[in-house]
Amino acid sequence: MTAEELYNRLNKIHPGAVLCTYTMEKCEQMISTINEINELKKERDAVILAHSYVAPEIVLGVADYTGDSFKLSQDATTVKAKTIVFSAVRFMGETAKILNSTKDVLIPGPLTGCSLADSITGEEVQALRKKYPDHTFVCYINTTADVKAACDVCVTSGNVLKIVKSLENDKIVFVPDRLMGENLQKELIRQGIKKKIVLHTGCCYVHETYDPELINFFRSQNPGLKVVSHPECHPGVALLSDYVGSTGQMVTYIKEQPSGTPFLLLTECGLNARMHYEFPDKEFIGSCSMCKYMKSNSLENILETLRHPEKAEHVNLEENVRVAAKKCIDAMFHYSAL
Ligand code: 13P
Ligand code: SF4
Repeated sequence: MTAEELYNRLNKIHPGAVLCTYTMEKCEQMISTINEINELKKERDAVILAHSYVAPEIVLGVADYTGDSFKLSQDATTVKAKTIVFSAVRFMGETAKILNSTKDVLIPGPLTGCSLADSITGEEVQALRKKYPDHTFVCYINTTADVKAACDVCVTSGNVLKIVKSLENDKIVFVPDRLMGENLQKELIRQGIKKKIVLHTGCCYVHETYDPELINFFRSQNPGLKVVSHPECHPGVALLSDYVGSTGQMVTYIKEQPSGTPFLLLTECGLNARMHYEFPDKEFIGSCSMCKYMKSNSLENILETLRHPEKAEHVNLEENVRVAAKKCIDAMFHYSAL
């Protein structure tokens, strides 16, 4: 790739933050790192999986696969290369390792956490199991391998409703996202489906901050505005949105709307940036909220990971945990294919 080709991709992105403003000079500074990463991927038989929330120069410069949690977990099962560099957060790297144990999975970012995944441990789920012995335990994919290993079925923001509706048991414990759980409860009631759902207290520190009043303000300023939000947002936000879905589902919804439509995306700004590039005929306003964990991924730490894999963070899981967690994720694949 040349600096000009990189510039032609990145100059369409203007989310407003200095971090995401791409000049030709900036592209010239980045291009040697990008090309070295792309060369090293071949030498090391590695691929890069990147969530849409990481920096645009990673998504558009070096990633082999990009998408939401569900798509990336499916991609991880098809990878032929022996090494996966997972440019996202640790629980996503763990998911890749759970599904593909023979691969070496490396995590480049220094902040590998996630406020949801860090909100509950496998031991806490085991304690809840004692309290609710006749419940089916459903966990969001934003959880550690230990938590998945202690649950019955995993879900993503894109398939949570479908899977919970398909479960035979009407008594469910859903961990860890309280707001996603509340959105789920409201949608089940709206559809006339009776399920008793026990919730945990976790929250995404990025999505929980969106305020319904923000939506009213932007609507008053932008006629025809389509508000698109993530189910990790407050139910008051979901109620005022035109569409609620996973980041992958948001992309599909945006694609289907006519040219010139203005959108307010209430999710991490990396997706906003991807939309600027993929849909230059549409307008994207506001919402520049960053996830510090996702944004701790950089071209520099990916390069360092590929230059010195022996010093990088490798995902290693105990085999019994991996097998139990795989059962939980396989149950998700089973229910989502029904
Ligand atoms: P998606 O599965 O929608 O990509 O969401 C992942 C995530 O971390 C949201 O904050
Ligand atoms: Fe976790 Fe929220 Fe960051 Fe997603 S945006 S990785 S849920 S902290």
